[in-house]
Amino acid sequence: MFLTIIFLFFLLLAILALSFFYFFLALGMFRTGIPFIARPIKYQQKIFELMQLKKEEKLFDLGCGDATFLIEAEKKYGVKSFGYEISLAALFVARLNVWFKKSKTKIINQDFFQADLSQADVIFCYLFPGKIMEKLSVKFKKELKFGARIYSLAFSLPNWPNEEIKYLDEKNNKGKIFIYYQGDTKHSNDTRMTRK
Ligand SMILES: C[S@@+](CC[C@H](N)C(=O)[O-])C[C@H]1O[C@@H](n2cnc3c(N)ncnc32)[C@H](O)[C@@H]1O
Repeated sequence: MFLTIIFLFFLLLAILALSFFYFFLALGMFRTGIPFIARPIKYQQKIFELMQLKKEEKLFDLGCGDATFLIEAEKKYGVKSFGYEISLAALFVARLNVWFKKSKTKIINQDFFQADLSQADVIFCYLFPGKIMEKLSVKFKKELKFGARIYSLAFSLPNWPNEEIKYLDEKNNKGKIFIYYQGDTKHSNDTRMTRK
């Protein structure tokens, strides 16, 4: 009898915790219109290879979700990683992961549109098509330093010429990632975005 009561108590606790978690997850999605869906893990290493991360570079994940992308990048390549996350549920998981993995990744509970991106060397995002990418496109052009690299999984940045498209699953032409360079140092003679 006693054991049954203890079991029911913990079951109730688990149900309550899960309800809170999903409530905050839904709230986050309501605020941003973007759900917390982690990038397919099978693409992660290929993304790192494309990024050619160097030690001490600053890597930003805009909408970092559980932060596992940033933690892994920091551990493998010695980058300084920063994640912006607005959803409280995702934020909780991200901070828990950082703590468990003894990571130096900084998780910032802020709308990334309010963030200062001028220090970023590499930006990663996996968001949603439409307005949000349009707005980000403008912010990137205005704030990113010359030569900063942007990797946008699945969705392109509008009005950004000279995009480079790669397939993370080359065999099946799947897993599109769009790559951009501030000032486009590498990929064209277009100087419209060059900042002096
Ligand atoms: C599709 S998930 C991607 C998570 C992670 N980047 C990954 O690839 O695994 C998008 C995340 O962006 C967050 N997000 C959306 N808009 C945001 C904003 N304006 N500021 C901060 N976070 C935002 C959402 O809460 C969600 O967790």
